[in-house]
Amino acid sequence: MGVQSLAVACGALALCLALTTATNPGFMVRITQAGLDYANQHGIAILEKELAQLKMPDISGDSRVLRVGKVHYELSRLRLRDFHLPYSRITPISNMGLQVSISNAFAELDGDWRVKVFFVRDHGSFNLKVENIYIKIILRLGSDTNGKPTISTADCSARISKVRVLFSGKFGWLYNLFHSAIESKLRKNLESKVCDNVVKSVHNDLQTYIQTLPVTAKIDGKTGIDYSLVAPPRTTAQSLDADLKGEFYSLGHRSTVPFSPLPLAFPSDHEHMVYFGASSYFFNTAGIAYHKAGALVFEITEAMIPKDVGFRLDTSVFSAFIPQLEEMYPNMTMKFRLSAPTAPFLTIGPGGISFQPTVDAQAYAILPNSTLAPLFLLSLTGNVSAVINVRSGRIVGSLDVGRIRLSLKDSTVGTFQVRMMQSLMNIMTSSTLLPRLNARLDEGFPLPLLDRIQLSNILMRFHQNFLLLGADVHFQPQG
Ligand SMILES: *[C@@H]1O[C@H](CO)[C@@H](O)[C@H](O)[C@H]1NC(C)=O
Ligand SMILES: *[C@@H]1O[C@H](CO)[C@@H](O)[C@H](O)[C@H]1NC(C)=O
Ligand SMILES: *[C@@H]1O[C@H](CO)[C@@H](O)[C@H](O)[C@H]1NC(C)=O
Repeated sequence: MGVQSLAVACGALALCLALTTATNPGFMVRITQAGLDYANQHGIAILEKELAQLKMPDISGDSRVLRVGKVHYELSRLRLRDFHLPYSRITPISNMGLQVSISNAFAELDGDWRVKVFFVRDHGSFNLKVENIYIKIILRLGSDTNGKPTISTADCSARISKVRVLFSGKFGWLYNLFHSAIESKLRKNLESKVCDNVVKSVHNDLQTYIQTLPVTAKIDGKTGIDYSLVAPPRTTAQSLDADLKGEFYSLGHRSTVPFSPLPLAFPSDHEHMVYFGASSYFFNTAGIAYHKAGALVFEITEAMIPKDVGFRLDTSVFSAFIPQLEEMYPNMTMKFRLSAPTAPFLTIGPGGISFQPTVDAQAYAILPNSTLAPLFLLSLTGNVSAVINVRSGRIVGSLDVGRIRLSLKDSTVGTFQVRMMQSLMNIMTSSTLLPRLNARLDEGFPLPLLDRIQLSNILMRFHQNFLLLGADVHFQPQG
């Protein structure tokens, strides 16, 4: 095989590998033109400050000036007074990156001049107004090995079309000298310094900032969320899209998820600055992670039953449904241990979240010597409705359970009619488990946000396989 055909084969193989390993995101972030405009506004303010500090090299040389003769000149202590970028536009360019176009920028600088004509020396200061500066920057986005976003300057060009200079002193020929010999050098120096500073600012400020994306967000002692990028961010003509893994994992033992994310058909909404798509995969990996971490276990004890529900958690209450209980375990406190036999699984559709978890409830009698005597094992199921919201950059929620249905899985106290026990179990779970679960859900789970970002004007809508969250962004500059 020739070198060329080998290269073709490798190229095709790499493409095949890339295609087969391409994964759908569990979580998607879209920044719209409105969001890019907002980012541009803050980015330009930072760039303006950086450019106002750029350092210019001294300029010196020899030139012949009409009616004066050979002149040796030096410009030194060139200092920028300010740099203004009043007009700028950011445009996403399909599959390429972001283009930032800055027009009609202007700057002012001053410095010292020194000339030598034959044996005569003179010096003074000058002031320079540079106008009609055009800067075009192409930013390329990528992702590093940790799945964090990267940004770099793929291209930068600066063009200055107007320079006005004012010299102290009364040498009219200095202006001729400037325009014939110095202006183009100075212009070139400034043009290249502008791009040097753009590259530096993108690297130091922008790259550092976007790396604050929390690609692994530890959420409590048991679980974390993996928000790493599964591919470099994509630009379309309308937006900048980032595909994130969007997967909860158990801190103790991370294992592969037994199902894959489904594709998210993102709508073309663009009113908000940013949109998040949280897939059903994202939520279902939460179930797996908490299940793996052994966190989906809950005990109901007598002390937890509110006094106003009108019953005690003891065998005398339950013997109304199970007559054998009275004889075997007379007047003993009971306890339930609730656990999920499998990780809960939900589906999301345009109508919302539908969710029918199954919970095992093992009942025990507590013997006088504190030993637990297993009584019976129930399987509980019911329709759960979820309300989801966004607060302080976190997805929060609350659940409500419809009527719980029971079935008997096992018993050491004989068989009995579980149907009779239904309302008792309903009251018991909704007064103990549900408030505690909702308190946890109300603390929420962090969204993948960069530092110092606040969300407002939240929109929430269910689509097939995912929850769409729209928001506007507020950036709190440092200091
Ligand atoms: C049941 O036990 C409680 C205290 O454990 C006691 O106060 C009550 O009198 C007992 N009832 C019966 C019927 O034995
Ligand atoms: C507790 O009491 C029960 C019944 O009286 C007995 O079978 C069991 O061995 C006791 N357990 C301990 C740890 O003493
Ligand atoms: C859950 O809702 C569905 C349809 O709304 C219904 O057919 C089903 O019986 C409900 N399940 C329970 C356990 O209530």
